[in-house]
Amino acid sequence: MTTATVSTDMKLPVDLPKPPGLHWNVRAHQPVDYSVRMVRGLLDLDNPALAHACGGGLGTPQRCLLAIDAVVDTLYRDRFTEYFAHWQIEPYWQVVQGDEDAKYLDQAVRVTEAMSSMGILRRAEKVIAIGGGVVLDIVGFAASMYRRGIPYVRIPTTLVGQIDAGIGVKTGINYGHHKNRLGAYFAPELALIDPNFLRTIEPRHVANGLAEIIKMALVKDAALFDLLETAVGTITPESLAVCGSAVSEVLSRAISGMLDELEPNLWEQVLERSVDYGHTFSPSLELRADPPLLHGEAVAVDMAICVAVAHLRGHLSRSDADRVLKLLQGFELPVSHPVFTRELLEEALADAVKHRDGLQRVPLTEGIGSVVFANDLTGEELGGALEFIESWKAGTDADLVGASA
Ligand SMILES: NC(=O)c1ccc[n+]([C@@H]2O[C@H](COP(=O)([O-])OP(=O)(O)OC[C@H]3O[C@@H](n4cnc5c(N)ncnc54)[C@H](O)[C@@H]3O)[C@@H](O)[C@H]2O)c1
Ligand SMILES: [Zn+2]
Repeated sequence: MTTATVSTDMKLPVDLPKPPGLHWNVRAHQPVDYSVRMVRGLLDLDNPALAHACGGGLGTPQRCLLAIDAVVDTLYRDRFTEYFAHWQIEPYWQVVQGDEDAKYLDQAVRVTEAMSSMGILRRAEKVIAIGGGVVLDIVGFAASMYRRGIPYVRIPTTLVGQIDAGIGVKTGINYGHHKNRLGAYFAPELALIDPNFLRTIEPRHVANGLAEIIKMALVKDAALFDLLETAVGTITPESLAVCGSAVSEVLSRAISGMLDELEPNLWEQVLERSVDYGHTFSPSLELRADPPLLHGEAVAVDMAICVAVAHLRGHLSRSDADRVLKLLQGFELPVSHPVFTRELLEEALADAVKHRDGLQRVPLTEGIGSVVFANDLTGEELGGALEFIESWKAGTDADLVGASA
């Protein structure tokens, strides 16, 4: 509803009728309501979940735009084809390149062109985004732009996708050296998570996703951290796909933790976000590494730096700092990288300050499982954190030497 007021301090030309008002406020609220569902056997012919997500499965033919990761397309096209034929769904295939170096505007525009050439109906026909975080972000962004927003469904097929990129409302593409510099908040209608897809991901992408799970453990779930410590060496593409009780608990705690954090702050009005842990320096440095770092690997290095800072500030005990660094290494994640120099960390922090509207708001762990925010990190402190990690790796840091003496 608009409210109008007549300003009395302004002289109106006499030949104009008196307007109903000169100042209007518009206020509206758009509810966000979507489900994230774990569904085993999404491509089993007798499983209607995907058909229903496409708006089909009701005995009448239905169309959808299937915007699918190139690797997933190669591996699963026959199964998708058989499934859709069974449910009388006619998919329009649009293959989208995964991987960070493909996450640029041209791919999002190409997806909108596919919507146009298919002549997709604005509400009744859905875009089904299938792939890792890169494809989900690109397709979500395309869906947000096309006719200013059309419905889409997410089917994440990587670990990062299933516990992070596929379950929130953010979309985006990279621009220049900057991660996700262009994007939109645009909720899907539904996210369907089938761990079976994880059977074919590369082991490096398991570690990549585990970095985001470790993040959730560090900022809010000490029990998840304990669980991860006992799972080192046992989380593989196969064990993820089988999804036994321990893996299922890890995935479910990671997803719940993430949604609990996102839901009250979907549009990031509050800029102190615990889920930004490990995402202070990494967004600026991830794309600078050569050979490139995966997102989770850059997050792991960022987390190691924050662990060192927290320990040096007295927020994290020495034994907890050891546990975190060992857990990262146990999952074959890096704790340092040549591109994370003191100078570049300071540059990255300056960019984070802009992103966080003028303050650092750096999440640090307060023990394992809770978070504090810092606004006063100095370059010197960052240099000290890097030195701490280097001497930890070499087993020569003062605390360690003292402990073993
Ligand atoms: N929108 C968000 O809230 C959010 C959150 C976290 C991360 N992200 C984004 O997610 C991206 C990282 O996602 P990612 O780690 O999934 O990378 P990715 O999408 O590049 O996928 C990794 C690789 O796995 C391949 N792949 C995908 N599914 C597969 C499968 N089932 N079997 C075999 N190969 C498969 C892809 O082709 C790609 O080569 C980053 O760009 C990051 O910014 C977004
Ligand atoms: Zn991330």
